[in-house]
Amino acid sequence: MQAQTGFLWGGAISAAQTEGNYLADGRKMSNFDYLPLNDQRLKPVYLDQQHTILNPENKEIYPSRTAIDFYHTFKEDIKLLSELGINSFRFSISWSRIFPTGEENGPNQKGLNFYDQILGELEKYQIEPIVTISHFDLPFHLVEKYNGWQNRKVVDLYVHYAKTIMTYFKGRIKYWIPFNEMNMVLHIPFIGGGITFNSKENPLQIQYQAGHHQLLANALTIKVGKEINPDTQFGAMLAAGKTYAYTCDPEDVFAALKSERENLLFSDVQVFGEYPKFTANFFEENHIQLNVTEQDKHILKENTVDFVSFSYYSSACTSANQDGLEKVATNGFMTVKNPYLPESTSVWQNDPLGLRITLNQLYDRYRKPLFIVENGLGTQDVLQGQKIDDEYRIEYLKGHIQNLLLALNEDGVDLIGYMMWGIIDLTSVSEGRISKRYGVIYVDLDDEGNGTGNRLKKASYDWYQEVVKTNGAAA
Ligand code: BG6
Repeated sequence: MQAQTGFLWGGAISAAQTEGNYLADGRKMSNFDYLPLNDQRLKPVYLDQQHTILNPENKEIYPSRTAIDFYHTFKEDIKLLSELGINSFRFSISWSRIFPTGEENGPNQKGLNFYDQILGELEKYQIEPIVTISHFDLPFHLVEKYNGWQNRKVVDLYVHYAKTIMTYFKGRIKYWIPFNEMNMVLHIPFIGGGITFNSKENPLQIQYQAGHHQLLANALTIKVGKEINPDTQFGAMLAAGKTYAYTCDPEDVFAALKSERENLLFSDVQVFGEYPKFTANFFEENHIQLNVTEQDKHILKENTVDFVSFSYYSSACTSANQDGLEKVATNGFMTVKNPYLPESTSVWQNDPLGLRITLNQLYDRYRKPLFIVENGLGTQDVLQGQKIDDEYRIEYLKGHIQNLLLALNEDGVDLIGYMMWGIIDLTSVSEGRISKRYGVIYVDLDDEGNGTGNRLKKASYDWYQEVVKTNGAAA
């Protein structure tokens, strides 16, 4: 089975997880640069309670400050991607490279030059860029001054940043993703929105208001972007994955429906231009009073997305009564363990058919072209001599690609492309460790950043190369 002609086969990375060189050429700190190498990274940051993040006495390692040095290795890395044969590449721009504090009037030219060079390399090899404007990062100054996306002022600052890069790179980038996984602001607020709390506040109030500000910024970016170049395409981006009911008890089914509605809330607004009806009651029950003006409503309605992109790592599962049920981690939160899924080769449960189900669910709901912009397996690899025989990764990718081909060919889902996540090993969001490896390209570094940094092709590189060459048939 194959994909249609012109299907985008690619790989994805983000700035904070790869570039390193966090203070180079005028860049300043971002929220991400404050995330140490430990297992507290996903926890909310309470400023009036003890926490490790933001502690100046903290002597820990901060993975994003060095990452995989993509700031210097991008030419060599993109060459490896071109040999792989992919026709597209998703990366993100680091806001604090362009506007170091977020509040400058004019951009940092050296920051623009860096992305200009990346685009130049991609053009050289005819690789289509897919660009995320904010992949979980914002200048740290905006965290300190405004508490990140809680403050409406950040909307204007973001739109100024977005307008600057869309103007500067006009005609060179067709696919823009204004925000990575917008729904993550509800699960990992410091990462997803640069938000900190004090324990007297209602966190949900702050998180949903921040989400509203991101929605507004997303809509205004589309407005400005279409004025700059009407041919550009803008995508919603959500952390997706069907939520199953633990049993067919209607109570469980209703619990799953509620959980999915919350997960899809932001993409609903991005596609339909308005908040779904259930939110009125949901906000009231949770003591959330959103500040949404009439003008905001108008902006949201007038500027909806062209496509819906998403990450898929696994499905989720829920029940009306979770007492006694085993929980496992999934991307960004805990979920009920699905007893029907086999033992996993990563820390998250693997569910390839869940991708086909998710594709159908999103297409039925949105009727917009879909775009898988993240999918992959994060696990430890063993270097044997100069080889990495990552059969488990091949098996994971194979299962997921087979299911996307079925969704395309048998279910009629409209799909733009498939970006394998972490195509080059990078530092993980949840753990900060590079040893949670995703790549088909190995990077010789350990969790503390020691090593040569050399790149090496894994067995999955050769396998994916064949898949791309045959437009999916080799999967
Ligand atoms: C997604 C993010 O949520 O999950 C990526 O967009 C992230 O940035 C990926 O790397 C995998 O999660 P983790 O925690 O294994 O890095």
